[in-house]
Amino acid sequence: MSVTLTDLPLLYHTHHSLEAEDIPFWLAQSRQFPGPILELGCGTGRVLLPLAETGARIVGVDKDAAMLAYLRANIPAARTAQINLIRGDFRHFCLTSRFALILLPCNTFSTLPIADRQIALNRVRLHAQPGAYFVVSMPNPYLLEELPPIGEPEVEITFPHPLSGNTVQVVSEWQRRENGVEFQWHYDQIFPDGRTERQSLTAYHLHQEIDQIYAAFKKSGLFIAASYGDYKSRPFDPDESTDLILVAHTKE
Ligand SMILES: C[S@@+](CC[C@H](N)C(=O)[O-])C[C@H]1O[C@@H](n2cnc3c(N)ncnc32)[C@H](O)[C@@H]1O
Repeated sequence: MSVTLTDLPLLYHTHHSLEAEDIPFWLAQSRQFPGPILELGCGTGRVLLPLAETGARIVGVDKDAAMLAYLRANIPAARTAQINLIRGDFRHFCLTSRFALILLPCNTFSTLPIADRQIALNRVRLHAQPGAYFVVSMPNPYLLEELPPIGEPEVEITFPHPLSGNTVQVVSEWQRRENGVEFQWHYDQIFPDGRTERQSLTAYHLHQEIDQIYAAFKKSGLFIAASYGDYKSRPFDPDESTDLILVAHTKE
């Protein structure tokens, strides 16, 4: 069986489900701030599906049809009534519903062009119920700034392709660009005859000073209630933390 070209969402989902250290964090947020939940950039449902398993009502927005198709196909029958998926750009969408908890996981925020971040934050505020919380994760901007100019390709992890059983090698690399760092993940499926097929995903994280990020939140009426440095909820430390995870409230 040849599984090629259309299985990037499956490869993304399988890869990131092996590195799911953030899931307990998002589940804890939903316990602390009960929904309804809105997840921006829900992708294949890596976060959305475990949240739905808690019984929460959840709306997922994503612009990528293939990611959403994968997610749709994997919603358990018992959860369909709780989940609503919308294909759209979260910088421009407008729903009639308002949410008690809005999530933007998995570093997606820092891949937005700087000028679009304020626009996206305004959309978050628009869709927030009074007293709602917004939780967003991104790589620690200081850490990104300190990365060497190039991260040579290296094998991050391997796993069996869920459909073909062939080994998939995940090769990651990065390159510093003018305003940020571009990461690439290559999914190399190795066929029994030795042939390799590569599919790649790119994430370009644009640098923005933390003060400016905070100022953008405030300008949109989102006030920082907590900042964590990792998914274990340790306090953010600019020199040590891997992540910057912000919990914002609609009230100052
Ligand atoms: C890194 S994936 C994260 C998926 C999922 N949240 C997770 O944690 O696995 C980022 C997702 O955000 C979506 N995305 C990025 N920018 C978007 C935008 N402006 N509007 C809607 N979706 C967007 C991409 O299509 C992709 O599915």
